[in-house]
Amino acid sequence: MLRSSALLSFAFSGLSVAAQLLSDSCQTALGGIVTNQDTANCLNPSALIPIALNGGNVSIVQPIDNWLTGLCPQASCSNSTLETASRNIVAGCHAEFLSFGLDSNDPLVTDRLVSIVQRYYPAFHSIVCLKNSDTFCITETLRAVETSVVPVTINNIPVLNDLWQRGRIPANVTCSDCEKETFNIITRDYPRPPITTDLNAAFSEQCGAAFVDGSTPSGISQSASTTGPGSNNSAAGVGSFSLLVVGPSVAMAGLAAFVL
Ligand SMILES: *[C@@H]1O[C@H](CO)[C@@H](O)[C@H](O)[C@H]1NC(C)=O
Ligand SMILES: *[C@@H]1O[C@H](CO)[C@@H](O)[C@H](O)[C@H]1NC(C)=O
Ligand SMILES: *[C@@H]1O[C@H](CO)[C@@H](O)[C@H](O)[C@H]1NC(C)=O
Ligand SMILES: *[C@@H]1O[C@H](CO)[C@@H](O)[C@H](O)[C@H]1NC(C)=O
Repeated sequence: MLRSSALLSFAFSGLSVAAQLLSDSCQTALGGIVTNQDTANCLNPSALIPIALNGGNVSIVQPIDNWLTGLCPQASCSNSTLETASRNIVAGCHAEFLSFGLDSNDPLVTDRLVSIVQRYYPAFHSIVCLKNSDTFCITETLRAVETSVVPVTINNIPVLNDLWQRGRIPANVTCSDCEKETFNIITRDYPRPPITTDLNAAFSEQCGAAFVDGSTPSGISQSASTTGPGSNNSAAGVGSFSLLVVGPSVAMAGLAAFVL
């Protein structure tokens, strides 16, 4: 799969999934991420609730920025937390996974999904916590899309996805320093020689040779906490809810879609 923007590939694939109507059992499983102490402590999911409550026509950029502001100082998730959470989601969202041709009643399919989540989580965590100066890269990119294309709302996701697939997102968004560092992380952490060579060629053509030189642009930094899993138990209590949630695990599907 060849896409012209690593960060947008990442954001839009996740949000496209999230923009669909989810079954009751899937919503319940996603709600479990909010109420479970372990996931609450490493994924800051309650900060995403406003996205569901605001409705489809309100920009999601500020809520995402708020989510990252809380998420990045948190300790990272342990593999066992990721496993428990993904098993619950895969079971609860059986119908949704089936629509992608994945039958989660098959234990081999579930095991494979769990290991994909565990494998890509570290890069997910690094990418979403990248900053350019004081601004999260995700926020900077989505703001740039809002300035030059359309507001980033749930209802506009299909429009944005379509514009991006057709190469209509401006180069100053897709070739930014933030995009470059995202590209660095993906190609460094998941080297797949033939694919990496193709990606290098495509991004080099679109953004110039310096984009693929592997160096970190000045001003770009990593804000993810280096605190190990499970060492932070200060999560705020959260009541139950059952609305559409833009689950971080769903956003992770975006990364997997890019890399696979
Ligand atoms: C969202 O915007 C669309 C298109 O402008 C409109 O038809 C719809 O009524 C709006 N929905 C809400 C809840 O405001
Ligand atoms: C977590 O699981 C993944 C895949 O299952 C593995 O590659 C990785 O090394 C594990 N990480 C830790 C810290 O054990
Ligand atoms: C990208 O370019 C457009 C048009 O030239 C401009 O309006 C916009 O502000 C630029 N965005 C960034 C992030 O530089
Ligand atoms: C624990 O989380 C809180 C809020 O999420 C944060 O302010 C604090 O720095 C964290 N502590 C550690 C050790 O990560």
